[in-house]
Amino acid sequence: MLIRTNSNGFDHGIPSEITSRAAFEGRRDLLKLWASGAAGAALASYAARDARAMGGLAKLPGGKSAVSGANVMEKLTDYKDASTYNNFYEFGTDKADPAKNAHTLITKPWTVEITGAVKKPGKMGIEELLKVSGMEERIYRFRCVEGWSMVIPWVGYSLAELIKKVEPLGNAKYVEFITMADAKQMPGLRNGSLDFPYVEGLRMDEAMHPLTMLAFGMYGEVLPNQNGAPLRLMSPWKYGFKGGKSIVQIRFTEKEPRTSWNKAAPQEYGFFSNVNPTVDHPRWSQATERRIGDEGGLFAKKRKTLMFNGYEAQVGQLYAGMDLKKFY
Ligand code: MTE
Repeated sequence: MLIRTNSNGFDHGIPSEITSRAAFEGRRDLLKLWASGAAGAALASYAARDARAMGGLAKLPGGKSAVSGANVMEKLTDYKDASTYNNFYEFGTDKADPAKNAHTLITKPWTVEITGAVKKPGKMGIEELLKVSGMEERIYRFRCVEGWSMVIPWVGYSLAELIKKVEPLGNAKYVEFITMADAKQMPGLRNGSLDFPYVEGLRMDEAMHPLTMLAFGMYGEVLPNQNGAPLRLMSPWKYGFKGGKSIVQIRFTEKEPRTSWNKAAPQEYGFFSNVNPTVDHPRWSQATERRIGDEGGLFAKKRKTLMFNGYEAQVGQLYAGMDLKKFY
């Protein structure tokens, strides 16, 4: 996001040129899973158009979501692209680094600490977290601040379900997400690309919005390490960097949390980070995006970026009256 830029301002990796890895060799067809009824008939029709390889990881199917806007009727990004073209600076700053290096991340056992202004603080193991609510599959657009986008079927549940369970206190106005930082497992911690741990945050109403998801899987399987195993955040109307990966602590605060990218470059990355084609990044336009996998690769016609990434009907009212040029 800051490191290597060309004249357009952002990094141009070509995912289809990334060498396929042994992990993807034992491929299975998601179609089989979906056709079995695990994700419902509606999703099976997406699958018919998008038969694709997966990572051979443990299955994590999700039921159909009833949340408004939760399923985009757009072609899914290939699993291979979604799992080999990543930002996860703890494992290196190159798009291909996380897939190469994140095998050293130890995801079992895993606990998340609930802290701050909350009635029921404490530690929750991943097994307990997986059971907080029913797993749903949701097909979200994913727009990176760098100007590329994907369409990914995530598996998880609304973060609101966990928040209700732990009962925030009246003075909890924000939720802060603190992620794993262990130099023994994460070689990227030594290069000082960011001030780790990677931290993100949401205002309480954003965190409680049903579209905001705690994701444990994608494409019907548990998350690959490089995508933020064993759990990450996903708010589809915000730039991708709001989706903190490999979360170890969820803290309820009265004050707006200082987030990693905001600390690194406050003039470029604000707290809200809502996808907004009318507010340019200081170094490049945000009006259009390159959909990874579109025919033509780098030369494919760019798509128009949608206000709130296309989720305006669901989330626009959260920002009524706010100057989104000031609160970017
Ligand atoms: N979470 C952590 N812990 N570390 C990171 O470097 N990068 C963010 C976000 N979450 C990042 C992170 C950025 S910049 C983006 S665009 C998305 O993860 C990328 O998610 P993906 O690799 O699954 O597409």
